[in-house]
Amino acid sequence: MFCKNFSRVGTERWRKLALGALVGALWLSTGRAADQDYKSRVEPVLKTYCFDCHGDGAKKGEVAFDEYTNLAAHVADHKLWLGVWQNLETQMMPPAKKPQPSEAERNLIKHWIEREVFKLDPANPDPGRVTIRRLNREEYRNTIFDLFGVEFDTSEAFPADDSGYGFDNIGDALTISPLLMEKYLDAAREIADKVVNTGEGRIPTISMSGDQMRNKAKPSLSSKNLDFSAKMPGSRSFRLTSISSTP
Ligand code: HEC
Repeated sequence: MFCKNFSRVGTERWRKLALGALVGALWLSTGRAADQDYKSRVEPVLKTYCFDCHGDGAKKGEVAFDEYTNLAAHVADHKLWLGVWQNLETQMMPPAKKPQPSEAERNLIKHWIEREVFKLDPANPDPGRVTIRRLNREEYRNTIFDLFGVEFDTSEAFPADDSGYGFDNIGDALTISPLLMEKYLDAAREIADKVVNTGEGRIPTISMSGDQMRNKAKPSLSSKNLDFSAKMPGSRSFRLTSISSTP
């Protein structure tokens, strides 16, 4: 019994170790690819075109490509490499009067930055996240009016919307706080009350005198007196408010 348990714990631990090693190897291999690529393909181009001002002791614009102590951290420096990508894309660097890298050399570095630094994968693009959107006050008011014909004053009922980038309909800026959620529920109730008649149903009233009643057998004759024992197919509701005995 003890042995069985022991061996189960043993295999469990081995499984975890093996899994850890596998994941670790994967991480190392991607990390190594980026580092090796940098050393073998990227750094030589930088040496040729950039080190005059960004290496061998030069540090123009606070950028030096050979001042790192940790290669992995250097390769993972997003701010630095985004700057390099932008400067290569716009051809701002190297400065115009200096020897320029060929298009292939520029592309090599840009692609390395895209693939290895920012991990962009064209075969498996990351579209980012989708913000759950809500209507702003203006949109809500108009929508309620269009759907129900109810004028609902959202500037009274809801707090002012935040804006983003100068617009008041940016999903990321239009958050829903618990307070706003409560106000939405209150608004929904108020609007529903206006739209749906929640009062008692009203029965339409008709006034008619007895001689307006017709004799069913001889419709030309008025029935004079309404016969309450007569069978009347269908379903009706009557509320009798007065009975007059005068013909
Ligand atoms: C002749 C000198 C010279 C060469 C060669 C040169 N640079 Fe620069 N670089 C500068 C100077 C000067 C600045 C600072 C400019 C500034 O801050 O306006 C700078 C700034 C930068 C910056 C930081 C500013 C920013 O926009 O982010 C980056 C990144 C950069 N260079 C990349 C490169 C790359 C990549 C190469 C080679 C392909 C290169 N530079 C070649 C002179 C040079």
